[in-house]
Amino acid sequence: MINDTHDFDAVPVERFHGADGRAVRPCTPAAVTRRHLRMLDLRPGMRVLDIGIGSGYSAALAAHLVGPEGHVTALEIDPGLAGRAAELYAEHGHRVEVVVGDGLLGHPEGAPYDRILVGTTPPAVPTAWLRQLAPGGALLAGVRVGDLPGAYAVAHISVGNGYQPDQVVIHHGGYTPMRAPGEDRRTSHAEAGDHSLTLATTGQTTYAATLLKALLNGRHTQPSPAPGDHYFHFKNWLIAAAPDGLCEATLPEGTGIGLAAADGAAILTDTSLVTEHQASPALGKLLELVHRWQSAGAPRTHEIAARLVRDGDTWHARLDVEDSRLLTA
Ligand SMILES: C[S@@+](CC[C@H](N)C(=O)[O-])C[C@H]1O[C@@H](n2cnc3c(N)ncnc32)[C@H](O)[C@@H]1O
Repeated sequence: MINDTHDFDAVPVERFHGADGRAVRPCTPAAVTRRHLRMLDLRPGMRVLDIGIGSGYSAALAAHLVGPEGHVTALEIDPGLAGRAAELYAEHGHRVEVVVGDGLLGHPEGAPYDRILVGTTPPAVPTAWLRQLAPGGALLAGVRVGDLPGAYAVAHISVGNGYQPDQVVIHHGGYTPMRAPGEDRRTSHAEAGDHSLTLATTGQTTYAATLLKALLNGRHTQPSPAPGDHYFHFKNWLIAAAPDGLCEATLPEGTGIGLAAADGAAILTDTSLVTEHQASPALGKLLELVHRWQSAGAPRTHEIAARLVRDGDTWHARLDVEDSRLLTA
């Protein structure tokens, strides 16, 4: 269990992130790393695999938490990042074994692990990771919960005696996408000033450009009925509900989720609700969905039922909203 003052002082984040927090990219915010390690409940003596070394901070903190009886292996595809972290570990005495390789395969040589932390998002969770867990082990990884560009979340998966997943809870948040070997480092999907609209159903893409133009021109904007963090939970609930016309757009108000049909679109961000005009049918439908989410108790992402769906040698993480069939009727 992380003792905030004691453990965070023992592994100073500035050592890895730099004094300005920008020493290396990509690197996960320290608060997120701490939260995820807390969720994994690292204890002395555990064996841990940390996939995606980034700044090196998560593996160093994990090594401190498992202590001299435990063992941490950090697996990283980028030899430059792996080398930088290895030097810091050697210089400051952090006991982390650094391995360069494709995290998608895990690191069977060091298995079984009590815990696996994956600070990046694979296209789907490989069975290899589950097989490398010890009985009763747990894994926390970035996951895709749908096909829209922003459908990222974090799955906490436990296994029982076999490698079959026993329990899965999905949390809001997300990690950068995993790279395949040889692939260039990806940039963020929308540059500042870039606007886009993506529909969940590919058959509808013919009118995406028209809807985007309408949303950027004759715009009606009102405050978001699900502001701040509520937005992220509504977004995940809506992805799970999968209503007709589900879409994502990046507008001057930010990136949001919403509904689009041939006769209009409505997009909700963490601050605003945007439509091309106040009488848009899409606005009424989206507000009705917000109301349903609120009537269901405004569930946060981890309160929505989650499951893993097998797809060959991988598993897709999915959220389930009970009345989703009503929403698509
Ligand atoms: C967000 S960073 C992880 C941050 C890190 N845990 C920390 O404490 O700063 C994601 C990392 O995953 C790595 N990565 C991406 N694809 C990978 C792959 N296929 N195998 C291993 N590492 C990968 C990236 O190079 C990057 O270092």
